[in-house]
Amino acid sequence: MDDPITPRNTESFPVDRPVEALLQDHNLARKLADAYLNDTSMAAKKQAAIQLVQALHAHSRLEESVFYPGVRRVDPNMISHFEEEHQKLDDVVATLMGMTMDEPQADQMVREMINMALHHIQEEEDQFFPKLQQANIDMTPIGLEMQSFEANLVHTQTQVPPPRMRR
Ligand SMILES: [Fe+2]
Ligand SMILES: [Fe+2]
Repeated sequence: MDDPITPRNTESFPVDRPVEALLQDHNLARKLADAYLNDTSMAAKKQAAIQLVQALHAHSRLEESVFYPGVRRVDPNMISHFEEEHQKLDDVVATLMGMTMDEPQADQMVREMINMALHHIQEEEDQFFPKLQQANIDMTPIGLEMQSFEANLVHTQTQVPPPRMRR
């Protein structure tokens, strides 16, 4: 059996380099997408899909609530474009959260989610992150806010479980 694909440790958020945390999330999404598309066992595919839905949900919340507002001034049009892409992706993610992987439409929806997500994260990495780096702004205040947002999110999730894709 392969090693489990694990999310980054939320207890050690890189506050002075928050983009690194986002990149780690992106790489996690890529690995899970790859596992979904290429694993041969049905159980492994299901597990990857469930993890991917949850990972994208958490990543989107973090970007929409803290990261995007914090860096919008670097390129407001691009951030608006990302928010539109999130909106479309969030709709698919929300639908999948209410489904089971055994439903006939699930596979097609997961594939659609994967295509949208991979396109979006590539765009952030190729078109926005370099621009952000060049803008040379102090990322620590944004990183601190992201850290506390995430800590609260994790805290809330332990109290009230979020809707999750059923097995
Ligand atoms: Fe995003
Ligand atoms: Fe992202």
